[in-house]
Amino acid sequence: MPVQSKATIGFVPTMGALHQGHLSLIELSKKQTDITVCSIFVNPTQFNDPKDFDKYPVTIEKDVHLLELATCDILFLPSVNEMYPNGIVAKQHYELGYLENLLEGSFRPGHFQGVCQVVHRLLDIVQPSTLFLGQKDYQQCMVIRKLIELIGMDKTDLVIGKTLREASGLAMSSRNMRLNEEEKQKATVIYQTLTSIKQNIQTGSLLQLLTEANEKIKDAGFEKIDYISICNATTLQPVEAWDGHEKLVALVAAFINGVRLIDNAALN
Ligand code: PAJ
Repeated sequence: MPVQSKATIGFVPTMGALHQGHLSLIELSKKQTDITVCSIFVNPTQFNDPKDFDKYPVTIEKDVHLLELATCDILFLPSVNEMYPNGIVAKQHYELGYLENLLEGSFRPGHFQGVCQVVHRLLDIVQPSTLFLGQKDYQQCMVIRKLIELIGMDKTDLVIGKTLREASGLAMSSRNMRLNEEEKQKATVIYQTLTSIKQNIQTGSLLQLLTEANEKIKDAGFEKIDYISICNATTLQPVEAWDGHEKLVALVAAFINGVRLIDNAALN
């Protein structure tokens, strides 16, 4: 008969190229659960752009070292075959509703289906008591919350850790490794813009604020802005005029030198 263990398992799924943002989630898990599992798997099915997948940084030796320093208990480092023994074709469609059609969903078709496919498989394998995710990927947190409901793993708690930033304000991201110092400096405009939206938001139309935010990011040297949007913090529906009460989040996705960065900030 299997031994029943009461140990709680905390799980931090990642795609590697670890930074302090990832490690802050490991730290949260270590505080809140008995055994912390981190996975590193660059999931091919969530990359809508094959070039982004090819260029995704892989720094496995450094990652292992960082996880050792963080005293993470278990590293799960599966191969593509282990994760997808029947090939990477989608077995199942996840009914994510409108979440899939806005912001990241609309600019990265298929991305959230890929995220659900891999997180579903990881949750099946790891069976965590608590899943730790970062607010940096705001919409992904909402999608995974929905996934947990869809697959009936309601006993798994979801803990969302705050976004860790460089001293400059730039949100930590594995993709930052693809930027040189000058580009990193320019990229701080995203945080500055989010902060300025937060400081200047007033009731009524938000159009002028968004137009200024667009200009600021373009002027700093971003070649393409996928979106700058102010949304309801719970539903992610865009808000054009604010009543002064509704909880809001501002979200940005933009390209600098071919690298796509995302960030967000709660506004009130
Ligand atoms: P990845 O981008 O490696 O991120 C792994 C986790 O770290 C996510 O929950 C993400 O939100 C969090 N994270 C990233 N940057 C952060 C920061 N600056 N501060 C705090 N947390 C941060 O997100 C993924 O991988 C994948 O989509 C995954 C969920 C692993 C599925 O493949």
